[in-house]
Amino acid sequence: MGQKRLLVAGNWKMNGLRADAELMAEGLASRCHAMGNVAVDIALFPPATLLDYMARALDDTPIVIGGQDCHRSEKGAFTGDVSAWMLRDVGASHVLLGHSERRAGHAESSAQVKDKAQAAQAAGLVAIICVGENSSERDRGETLAVVRRQVQESLPAGATYANTIIAYEPVWAIGSGQVPSTEEIVNVHGEIRRLLVKATGDDAGATRILYGGSVKPSNAAEILGLGDVDGALVGGASLILDDFWAIVTAAVR
Ligand code: PGA
Repeated sequence: MGQKRLLVAGNWKMNGLRADAELMAEGLASRCHAMGNVAVDIALFPPATLLDYMARALDDTPIVIGGQDCHRSEKGAFTGDVSAWMLRDVGASHVLLGHSERRAGHAESSAQVKDKAQAAQAAGLVAIICVGENSSERDRGETLAVVRRQVQESLPAGATYANTIIAYEPVWAIGSGQVPSTEEIVNVHGEIRRLLVKATGDDAGATRILYGGSVKPSNAAEILGLGDVDGALVGGASLILDDFWAIVTAAVR
């Protein structure tokens, strides 16, 4: 398992205009080419408006592109939504699901996340299912119980290491500059691994579990070196080319 390639995923959230995307794509492409053999997997999650552009601009790099959410249906009367098939159609290979900003801001339940993950699977996308406790749940000592419930209720049937990734993102760590202790991260990731053993059997060891929440160049190497941490989901730092690349470099094994 120590030899598994790490994945660094950049979630731009609702940030980025075409001019920003052009600069990022150029900078990332030239850094990839300069690195030669890029011994880490890299995924970017720009807003839906930039998916098509980024997929084309990064076409000759190892960087893959994903959506930040998808609808559970293939198409239909769902104004404002985007389907997994539409993401696939513009060159996405991944989709983030159940990010805490979706769970909180759009009242998404784990049952809905599971339906979306099923759609992602059917469309041939890799789903990155996000889970994590908020600060009051943490204060009440409920971290493991919350994560357990979210994983169990969000994971679709047919989940394998090839179509599903879990991201542990403590809500209180997102955008706050605070991160859990290394022991806390190891404990939660170990618990997620045990749940995956029950849900996916032999695939559990190969399934990636990412950590997300205030990952920066200054803490990336330490976090990425922890047991059962198979990569990082990066928000704010993924908007700054040098910071994102420093995290990518810290993930090279
Ligand atoms: P952050 O966001 O790196 O800015 O804390 C992480 C995320 O929300 O995925």
